[in-house]
Amino acid sequence: MKHFLDIHKTDPAELRGIIESAKAIKSARIGRSKAALDDDLPLDGKMVALIFEKPSTRTRVSFDVGVRQMGGQTLVLSGNDMQLGHGETIADTARVMSRYVDLIMIRTFEEATLLEMAEYATVPVINGLTNRTHPCQIMADILTYEEHRGSITGKKVVWSGDGNNVFASFAHAAGQFGFDLTFTGPEIYDPEMGFIEEARAKGVSVDIVRDPVKAVQGADLVVTDTWVSMHDAQSARERRHNALRPYQVNEQLMSHAKDDALFMHCLPAHRDEEATSAVMDGPNSVIFDEAENRLHAQKAVMKWCVT
Ligand code: CP
Ligand code: NVA
Repeated sequence: MKHFLDIHKTDPAELRGIIESAKAIKSARIGRSKAALDDDLPLDGKMVALIFEKPSTRTRVSFDVGVRQMGGQTLVLSGNDMQLGHGETIADTARVMSRYVDLIMIRTFEEATLLEMAEYATVPVINGLTNRTHPCQIMADILTYEEHRGSITGKKVVWSGDGNNVFASFAHAAGQFGFDLTFTGPEIYDPEMGFIEEARAKGVSVDIVRDPVKAVQGADLVVTDTWVSMHDAQSARERRHNALRPYQVNEQLMSHAKDDALFMHCLPAHRDEEATSAVMDGPNSVIFDEAENRLHAQKAVMKWCVT
């Protein structure tokens, strides 16, 4: 069973294979209309459940379109409309769903929900974001970096802001793809140290630098994300904004990175909060390529899961 649960749980050679497959899948789409079928149809005859316990635009649409292009069919389900949201166990849900579908993608709150789904499902399960990680996003980000700048191995990636679920998957990816990572943000929103130690154990440098200007020096890629994630209490909004404001990615901060440093944001963004529109719409921003690449990267992930 090939689940795609997290980047650090997938072998580096397999991850590299998925990225190369995504590049080939993307180039085979050139000149095709969006609803045209792929030639190889790896999901022909397959039914895919996309379960959302949180809102989504990119994940929902890119998985749905991707499955259809690969010849499969989708069921897009809201956790709240399922018995899952009303007391049925995750284990029973996993066993029942496995009788109907060939693949399950789930976006959920607790990581334990994802893990229990994977334990009891008899079909592959894909992590579409939890409170702790967002691996599909970072596969798309690596694809995006490499199409603009070549191999990410040995490069310096700087994360400015909240040490959240998207950062965690960058930390996993640093260890698996071999790039250096710097976190800059206020101590109260530091990432879990375990993510950092695990990457360091794989031989890459992962630093925490409190001064954002020092942190971005020599950066090949600068990344940020919302200051208030879907699982964060709205009551903490003001406190988060006050603490994170010095870590806003603006033109002044970007001027300390390498001249050709790319800027990424997984979106959705709160413009002129975590990043200014000048940076988001600037010449080094690849935010909409990232969004597009969710489609190609996840198609490669799904193909890997079923073959
Ligand atoms: N980046 C991302 O996962 O976006 P959605 O929440 O819109 O799916
Ligand atoms: N950190 C954000 C990512 C959204 C795609 C969240 O979890 O809400």
